[in-house]
Amino acid sequence: MVSITLNGQKMEVSADKTLLEIARENGIDIPTLCYNKKLKTFAGCRMCIVEITGRKTLASSCSTRPLEGMIVQTNSDKVLKSRKEILDLLISNHPEDLFSQVKVGNNKFQEYAKEYEVSKGSYDGEKNNYEIDDVNAVYIRDLSKCILCGQCVNSCDQIQISHTIDFLGKGFNTKVGTAFDLPISIDNCRLCGQCVSVCPTGALIHKQLANVEPSTIKKVRTTCPFCGTGCNFDLNVVDGKVVGVTPLEEATVNSTALCVKGRYHTDMLNSDRRLTTPLIKKDGVFVEATYDEAFDYISKKVSEIKEKYGPESLAGLSSARCVNEDNYIFQKLFRVGFGNNNIDHCART
Ligand code: SF4
Ligand code: SF4
Ligand code: FES
Repeated sequence: MVSITLNGQKMEVSADKTLLEIARENGIDIPTLCYNKKLKTFAGCRMCIVEITGRKTLASSCSTRPLEGMIVQTNSDKVLKSRKEILDLLISNHPEDLFSQVKVGNNKFQEYAKEYEVSKGSYDGEKNNYEIDDVNAVYIRDLSKCILCGQCVNSCDQIQISHTIDFLGKGFNTKVGTAFDLPISIDNCRLCGQCVSVCPTGALIHKQLANVEPSTIKKVRTTCPFCGTGCNFDLNVVDGKVVGVTPLEEATVNSTALCVKGRYHTDMLNSDRRLTTPLIKKDGVFVEATYDEAFDYISKKVSEIKEKYGPESLAGLSSARCVNEDNYIFQKLFRVGFGNNNIDHCART
């Protein structure tokens, strides 16, 4: 432990933590664009700078650990002025539409620009102007809006262990891209969407949510029904219709990680190909039926099969997506109702 003074308050803190972690634990908010607690320290954006008495330069709090006697200011005039300058530089190389662009979920860059009242960049000069990459099925990359925070690169590498993307080029021409700078596709990417959920700008956007106005969204926290892992996320609901999901950093099981099904399955909910009523084949054609008709039909057919071929002729495959009670009843149906143990489920192997 070491003793420091943080914004005028003396405290004993762990020397193993960073100034950013210590500040946040003590309810002091410091803005960050490249920091992600699930990733190794990157310290590339400088938004988290703080003033340390006796040091000539401001220090990035996400990569600085406390030393005995350190006096730290997180919101001094010098710090606030420098943060504004950092935003000004970033916005100067950013398309004009910073405040009109819409991004559901993480859009810290826009929030900080509003908070620090930097509506447009004051530096004239060339801006990066990249072609939009939207050839894959699920997300759009608009690299002109990228601030090179590295969160996508590091998440792909350290969370997804895919290493699909990396920094390409040097200096002003640095950008994030794939090997040979090819568009994102199923040939080079899992399309897991992890990079999209950590991107703090509108550079990476899920297609599902690209044209949704954030203020119309109602968030409904839920647990994914696809498998037994139990990932948590927020459903984005507009007018009673689910339009996409947003993962939650604080979700204990999964944080911002989700599989492809969890991240994008909401398309299926609204698909016009979805079965919404039982179908019974009559004269070779499926026709709509009520649930009572369907259950009567199943019961009659299953009884006939058991009668004719014996109990061992029947088997059941249950699902990890069902709740425990459903699976319990299902095995009971086979063991007690049909008199066999021919029961299995999709998650066993
Ligand atoms: S979608 Fe997943 S695999 Fe593809 S670049 Fe993003 S994080 Fe990497
Ligand atoms: S695409 Fe987004 S997450 Fe990736 S470096 Fe650019 S701003 Fe950061
Ligand atoms: S958050 Fe510390 S340098 Fe980016």
